[in-house]
Amino acid sequence: MRHFIILACLLIAGCNQHQSALAPFGVEAAHTRSLMIVMVVAAVVLAGLTAFLYVRAVRAPEDSLDHAGGMRLVLWMGAIVPTILLAALLIYALPAMKPMDSTPADLRIRVEGEQFWWRVMYERNGGAAPIVDANEIRIPVGRTVVFTLTSTDVVHSFWVPGLAGKMDMIPGRDNRLVVKAERPGYYRGVCAEFCGFSHALMAFEIIAMEPAQFDLWLASRNVPVRSAASDAEGARLFTRNGCGACHAIRGTPHSGRIGPDLSRFGERRTLGAGTLEPNLANTSAFIRDPQASKPGTRMPAYAGLSPADADAIATYLKGLK
Ligand code: CUA
Repeated sequence: MRHFIILACLLIAGCNQHQSALAPFGVEAAHTRSLMIVMVVAAVVLAGLTAFLYVRAVRAPEDSLDHAGGMRLVLWMGAIVPTILLAALLIYALPAMKPMDSTPADLRIRVEGEQFWWRVMYERNGGAAPIVDANEIRIPVGRTVVFTLTSTDVVHSFWVPGLAGKMDMIPGRDNRLVVKAERPGYYRGVCAEFCGFSHALMAFEIIAMEPAQFDLWLASRNVPVRSAASDAEGARLFTRNGCGACHAIRGTPHSGRIGPDLSRFGERRTLGAGTLEPNLANTSAFIRDPQASKPGTRMPAYAGLSPADADAIATYLKGLK
């Protein structure tokens, strides 16, 4: 049994490295891990010591401790030792609780929690409109990134275990989280606060890129999307069914803000905030019945849409790059 538990722990620690607080790839996540290791070791030592003292006390002869000796023991073990230990842990932990330093020149990304997806806004200097995206966040490796986190409906929590600790997203309040990725890669993030039926289906991905590559990518976001001429039927159906009331597509008249921005939907790595593979069949099925894969989502079902029409819209969306 013991071997099984050790093996299970190793497996849990070893798999899914990019969504594990035990395998940090960011400065803040590394602090969190060392803090956790110190606390676990201290807790094990204290529990062992307590068990040892308990066994000794039970085995001691009846009158080996007089009243004064008993009171001294209570004072030491009940007050003085815990005070020293807790004060030491507090002094050790305080620096780790301080947010990381940032400068006004750092990249700033605003993320808003929605039921059940993430609105992502890359802020730009000089008062230019932010670049809006959804459910995928790209950041440059080695640069400090300041996240401003908030929510528009209920409380969500932004958690990318491989990069940083959790931070709540609270309506009407801006919380700040400073992240610095140390290696390029894909880091999965999740919502860590129960926020409704599809709380467990509210994931996202942080993609850490080389800084030069990131700058090129961000500049390319500002250009209107391309769509293939063969997708004109899908584009027409998108307009006719009023999809643009909720969804925006850069460079088209569609500018809805209720649902996720769909500009460059064709480049997304997931559909429905980390829920499905973004292939044609899933996209088409999602349009006709989003509740089937995301219960509680705000998007209404388009059951009246024929499968062929839903496919056409899905083809149009998949072509947005
Ligand atoms: Cu959003 Cu849980």
